[in-house]
Amino acid sequence: MVIAVDGPSGSGKSSVCRAAASELGAAYLDTGAMYRAATWYCLQQEVGLDDHDAVEVAVEELPLNISTNPDHQVITVGQADVTEAIRDASISENVSAVATNPKARALLIASQRGIIDREGFIVAEGRDITTVVAPDAQVRVLLTASAEARLRRRGAQLGGTQDAEALKRQVLDRDTKDSAASNFTEAADGVAVLDSSDLSFQETVDSLISRVQLAQ
Ligand code: C5P
Repeated sequence: MVIAVDGPSGSGKSSVCRAAASELGAAYLDTGAMYRAATWYCLQQEVGLDDHDAVEVAVEELPLNISTNPDHQVITVGQADVTEAIRDASISENVSAVATNPKARALLIASQRGIIDREGFIVAEGRDITTVVAPDAQVRVLLTASAEARLRRRGAQLGGTQDAEALKRQVLDRDTKDSAASNFTEAADGVAVLDSSDLSFQETVDSLISRVQLAQ
């Protein structure tokens, strides 16, 4: 069974999906981490992110390994453990450039489909899982939250030290850039909306799990 979840940044999808996968005994795939790792690699190789051909070549040779264990997330590029480094602000600021490169996107999508097929029972999350990567998934959910709730969570995630206006600009700016690559703000046909604005973390996890149980 494939559980596909999409949503914007700050909707809580990574932590919710990881917890749900862990409770269900399913594998977990954070596709955003793959775009982040590709961006890390481009920056490390000093590939200009506006050089489309060079980005394509870099993503083609990307020596990426991503674990699908929800309780032990490790992401490596070659010998480098990039699990922490890909969360850096420099990656968040540049990742949309890789995500909007059509060839790089196609390569990462093919790799995501391979991982999903290999695992079989998996919670996969991102921006285009319900629509492009796994449109035939048995459970398809768009996890949303109000802009206020998303900003609050993102701020807390970053330790509450960020300037509120700068954070708002960053989050909304990334939404705008990302929406050029995929539409993750509206649910496609057959995709259920789960609004987490007024739900606690565990309530959101439970709601996702109950949708999976209904489909089983
Ligand atoms: O989910 P996260 O914020 O870590 O994703 C990082 C970036 O990866 C997003 O801002 C977006 O540019 C890209 N992404 C994407 N499609 C996905 C997952 C992530 O374009 N399925």
